[in-house]
Order: sequence, then C-alpha cells, then structure tokens
Amino acid sequence: MNTKLKIRDLTLDSNIFLAPMAAVNCLPFRVLCRRAGAGLIYSQMINVDDFFGDKDKIMERYADFVDEERPVAAQLIGAKPEKMAEAASYIQHHAEIIDINFGCCDGDQLGKKAGCYFIRHPDRIHDVVSKIVKAVDIPVTAKIRIGWDDQSINCVETAKIIEKAGASAITVHARTKKDKYEGKAKWQYIRQVKEAVSIPVIGNGDVRSPELAKSMLERTGCDAIMVGRAAMGDPHLFTRINTYLKTGRSLPFQTKEQRYQDFLEFLELYKIQPRQKFSEIRNHALWFAKGLKGGRQMKNDILKCEDIDSIKAQFR
Ligand SMILES: Cc1cc2nc3c(=O)[nH]c(=O)nc-3n(C[C@H](O)[C@H](O)[C@H](O)COP(=O)(O)O)c2cc1C
Repeated sequence: MNTKLKIRDLTLDSNIFLAPMAAVNCLPFRVLCRRAGAGLIYSQMINVDDFFGDKDKIMERYADFVDEERPVAAQLIGAKPEKMAEAASYIQHHAEIIDINFGCCDGDQLGKKAGCYFIRHPDRIHDVVSKIVKAVDIPVTAKIRIGWDDQSINCVETAKIIEKAGASAITVHARTKKDKYEGKAKWQYIRQVKEAVSIPVIGNGDVRSPELAKSMLERTGCDAIMVGRAAMGDPHLFTRINTYLKTGRSLPFQTKEQRYQDFLEFLELYKIQPRQKFSEIRNHALWFAKGLKGGRQMKNDILKCEDIDSIKAQFR
C-alpha cells in the first residue's frame, strides 16, 4: 500500500513537502524541516531577472542548498520564457526539481507580468513550461492558484496546459489571486485538478495539523501535500504529520525545551552560511515561540532583543 511518490524519476521518502516561502525558507529552516521529515524542500522564489546580474550572489542568497536538505525544488519566477529557461538550465545543476511560480500575487510581480499574471493569461503558460522542460534534464513542476477570482476559476484548464507542456507535477494552492492568503482554501478544486490530469498533484492551503493533512489527502485524492505557514517555527509538524499518516498516532506538540533545542540547531546551522540578517533570525525565534505556554510574553520580549544571546535567554 505504502508505495513512495515519484515525480518523474525522483522518488520521495515522504509526500509532505515544505512550501516555498520568501523570507522564511533560509538554509537552517529548510534543513530543520528536512530533518523533521519533509519529503521535498522548496526554495523561496528566485527572481530570474535578478539572476542575470551577479549569478554567484543570487545563488548564494537564494539557492544555497546543502546536501542534507535534498531533494530540493528551486522555484523560479519571471515573465519571459527564454530568460526563465536560461536561468533554469543554470540552476538545474544545483537542485533536483525546477518549480515555476504561477501563483505569486504580489503587485510587483504582476506588474512585471510574472506569477499570477499567467493565471489570467493561461495561453502564455505553455510556452514557459515547454521552454523550461526543453532546457533542463531534471523534472519541472509548476505551482498555480485556482483562478484570478471566484468568477474566473480556471485551474483545470491551467493544469491541463501545464501537463501538456511536459511538467512532471503540479501544485494547486486552493485560493484565487483575489483571496491572497485569506478565507478558507477551496480544496474541492484540488480534487477537480486531480481528476483532470495524470501527473502527481500536490495540494496546498490551510494544512495546519496531521488531521488536516489526512483530510486533504482523503477529500481531494491529491498525491502530496505542501505545508507553508503552519511549519514556520514548527518544523516538528512534519514529524507529527508523517507519524499520524503512517500509524494513526498523534504525537504531542513540542515542549518549550524541545523548541529551544530546535532553535539551537537552527543557530548551529546558521553558522554554515552566516549571512542572514539578525532581524531574520529574530523572526524565526518569534515563530519558534508561537504556540508555547507564555508564548505571547516571549514574543514581546524577543522583539526587544538586540542579540542572539538575549533571544536564547527567552527560551530558558
Ligand atoms: C511568508 C510567505 C512567503 C511565501 N512565498 C512564496 C514563494 O516564494 N513562492 C510561492 O510559490 N509561494 C509562496 N508563498 C505561498 C505558500 O507557498 C503557500 O502557497 C501558502 O502559504 C498557502 O499554504 P499554507 O496555507 O500551508 O500556508 C508564501 C507564503 C508566505 C506566508
């Protein structure tokens, strides 16, 4: 029964994935999620326009992958198919999958005709996907939203175009562009996409617990799940979900001491590439404090911290 999910020729040891998250998915966080059992780690989105400046700088900033976190999907965002294909052909030597972002609803990206712009112009999707597929040897996947707004849901159409263009899997964030991150994710559309294509479908939106992961798998029939916000500060969520899906057992939330251990591991990993700004480390500390007893007070105190030692003291 427990056959492992394959994305083209890549076999994954869990079908619960870490979602791409800009300004969140730094190296230490990605490694912690992989250690906790995430089956595939997405980078934050890499803007292909930046890529044509100083490549090394961009690689160092956004694609600083280490072996321990593999398999990794490097996510690209851009407007021009040729540029995206050129960036993909370079980055393929550093990742196991190239993912294309058709779901970002930032005004900046829309202005550049990237991200969700394609959801409004699905006729342009085939060219992007097929050019990237031709340019690389590794699997190519894409992440979409269900439509521009509730009056123009087009995820089935978009998914079929993506499959036809040669993609090896598709992620459906079950919200429209207009929803941004608000309102309940509309999982029924993940099911519609699953029924319409033959490539693996990764469901995304509002999975915050092992029970919700199980429910999404059952209700949509999707092949894998991508977890975003709920994993922030809680990489252990991947362990809880995997355990629950395999055994039905509900592991307890981490204690404050266990969270502190995770934060110490985070700081240890940070030494591999100590480029992160202090404010980013502090953000992760704030997320690690989330959900702990006395977490609200801890958050207020962490916000006042000016160095790592004073943050550590808040967990003791
Ligand atoms: C801080 C933040 C940054 C994000 N950055 C990206 C990104 O770079 N690329 C992308 O495709 N989606 C991005 N997303 C969207 C998530 O990948 C995911 O689709 C969304 O959060 C819904 O999943 P969730 O309910 O599990 O959080 C981001 C979301 C958040 C909260």
